[in-house]
Amino acid sequence: MCGIVGYVGKASAGSVLINALKRLEYRGYDSSGLAVVSESRNVEMRKRSGRLDNLKELLAENPAEGNCGISHTRWATHGEPTDANAHPHTDQSGKLVMVHNGVIENYQTLKEQLGAEGHEFRSQTDSEVLAHLIGKCFDSSQEDDRCKRLVEAVREALKMVTGTYGIVVMHADAPKFLVGARLGSPLVIGLGKGEKFLASDVGAIVSHTSDAIYLSDRDLVYMTEDDFAIENVDGDAADYEVSTVDYTQEDAEKGEFPHFMLKEIYEQPTSIQNAFRGRLLDDQASAILGGLQLTPRELRDVDRIVLCGCGTASHAAMVGEYLIEHLARIPTEVEIASEFRYRNTPLDKNTLVFVISQSGETIDTLSAMREGQRKGHRVLGIVNTVGSTIARESDGGSYLYSGPEIGVAATKSFTSQVTLLTLLALLLGRMRHLSVDYGQRMLQELRDLPAKVEMILQQSDKIRTIAEKYIDAQGMLFLGRQFNYPTALEGALKMKEISYIFASGHAAAELKHGIIALVSEETPSVFIMPKDSVFEKNVSTLEEVKARKGPVIAITTEGGVELERIADDVIYIPEVTECLSPILASIPLQLLSYHFAVARGCDVDKPRNLAKSVTVE
Ligand code: AGP
Repeated sequence: MCGIVGYVGKASAGSVLINALKRLEYRGYDSSGLAVVSESRNVEMRKRSGRLDNLKELLAENPAEGNCGISHTRWATHGEPTDANAHPHTDQSGKLVMVHNGVIENYQTLKEQLGAEGHEFRSQTDSEVLAHLIGKCFDSSQEDDRCKRLVEAVREALKMVTGTYGIVVMHADAPKFLVGARLGSPLVIGLGKGEKFLASDVGAIVSHTSDAIYLSDRDLVYMTEDDFAIENVDGDAADYEVSTVDYTQEDAEKGEFPHFMLKEIYEQPTSIQNAFRGRLLDDQASAILGGLQLTPRELRDVDRIVLCGCGTASHAAMVGEYLIEHLARIPTEVEIASEFRYRNTPLDKNTLVFVISQSGETIDTLSAMREGQRKGHRVLGIVNTVGSTIARESDGGSYLYSGPEIGVAATKSFTSQVTLLTLLALLLGRMRHLSVDYGQRMLQELRDLPAKVEMILQQSDKIRTIAEKYIDAQGMLFLGRQFNYPTALEGALKMKEISYIFASGHAAAELKHGIIALVSEETPSVFIMPKDSVFEKNVSTLEEVKARKGPVIAITTEGGVELERIADDVIYIPEVTECLSPILASIPLQLLSYHFAVARGCDVDKPRNLAKSVTVE
C-alpha cells in the first residue's frame, strides 16, 4: 500500500508531485521519491528514505525542473526503506522511469532472466525488475512514435508478470507522456484543464480537479496534458465514466486539529448522521438501503449472513453479527476476510455475503469478495471510499458517507460501519418479527446518537488525564461482554496500533480461563460495561481484577455511581439501548488510545510499520 502520483501539464511537476504525495503519505511513509523529465529530456531523479520532509529538503537543495513527472511514497514490501529501494525505479538505460504500488510475485524469476541478459539492479525491490522488463520490451532504436511503443512495451511486460500493480511509467524519449495500468492496486485519473493526473486515490488530486475516472483492474491508460485514452491490457478500448469527487480539499486536511485521528474522532456526530441520513423510514418503522439492489422477496428469503472484513472492519462485523441476530434472528457469522478467501466456507443460495471495508481496497477483503462471487454468490459491500475497487466490483451495497478517513487508525469508519449494520438489522428484522413499536424506538435511538457522541467528546480532557496516569503501562487488557466483546477487541487494536504497547481484547468471562494471569499492578484493565443485561456479571469480573491489584478503567452508563468505589477511573457514556452501546463506548476508547499515544510521543497518524490501506498480501 504505497502512494503513487503522475503529473503532466504546464506547472512545475516537482512541486505538484510533492504536494500530492503529502496527501498520500498515510498510505506508506518509510521512503519517497520523484522523477521529472526535463526540457532537455534528462531524467531528474530525487529519492530519500524516511519521511516526505527528507525528500522536500533534498528538492530544495537540488530542484528538479520539468512539467511531467512521477512520484511515490513507500510502504516497504521487498527491501528495507533505503534511498536505493525508494521509488521511482529506472530500466537498464536509465531513461524509462516507473513507480509501482503492489507486489510482483514472480520477480525473482524475471530478475534472474534479466540478470542473465546483462541487466544490473540497483535495489532489492520487485518493482525495479518490472521497470527493467518494460525497458527491455521498449524498442528505443526507432525515432518515430515512441509514445505508442512505450504503451506497447508496458502492455507486453505486464503480460509476463504475476501479482498486483498500480504503475505509472514515463520515458525521457517520450516527453510529456504518461502510461498507467492497474491490477489489484487502485489508480485514478484526474482530469485537469491542460493537465492530467494519475494517483492511488483522489486525495492526491482533489486540490486540482474534482473530475476523476476510477480505473478498473486490467485497464491501461496513456495521456498527455490535453488528452488521454483507456484500453485494457489486450489493447481494446475500455469503458469508463467520469465521476465528480465527493469531497473537498479541506475535508482531506487537519484544519485546527493536531492530528487527522483526532479530527476524525470529532467528526463522528456528523459521520454517524451521514450514515443514516435518508435511510430511516418512519412510516414503516424501518430502514431503507436501496444500494443493496435486493427485492423485498430476496431480502425475505435470506436465511444466513456472512460478514467479512479485516481489522477494525472485522470488529464492526462482529457487532453486526450480534445486531442482526438480535434484531432479525438470522444466523450470522463473521469471517476474517483473509481466512474466508481460503476457508472454502459452505454457502447456499440464500446466504447473503457482505464485505466491509473503509478503503474499499484491502486486498484480503477484495479477494474474499471475489471468492464469494466465484461461487456464484451476490456479495454486497459496506464501503466508505466512493469509486473504490470493492465499491465498483461488488454486486451492490451501501456507502458510509463518512468523508475521507486519513488517520491510519480507523475511528469514524468503525462507528459508521456499525450504524450501517444496525440499519441492515432493523430492515431485516422489520421484515420478519420486529414490531412497529420496537422499530420506532430504534429509529429514535439512532437519531439520538450524534448528540450523545457530542457529550462524550466533551470528556476528552478527562480521558487525557486518565491516559497520562497510566503512561508507563507496558500492557493493557480490554474486556467486554455481548455487544461489547467486539468493542473490547476494537479498543485493544486502537491502543496497540498507535502506542505500540501490548493490548488485547477479550470476552470478559474469559478472564478466569487464563487471561487473569496477566493481571498485575502494571497492567490496567479497561472494562466496557454499560448498564445493560450483563452489567452485574461485569462487576463480578471487575472485582476479580481488583482482588489481584489490577488497576481498572471502567466505561459505564452515566447516573450509576457504584463503580466509583471499586474502579480506579470511570468514564461515563449517555444511556443508550444495549445493541447500540458499542457506538458510544468506542468513543472513549478512541480518545484513550489517542491521548495515551500522544503522551508517549508516538506518531498517531502514521504509526510505525502500518499504512492506511493494506493493498498487498
Ligand atoms: C484499524 O485501525 C486499522 N487501520 C486496520 O485494522 C484496518 O481496519 C484494516 O486494515 C481494514 O481496512 P479497510 O477497512 O480499509 O478494509
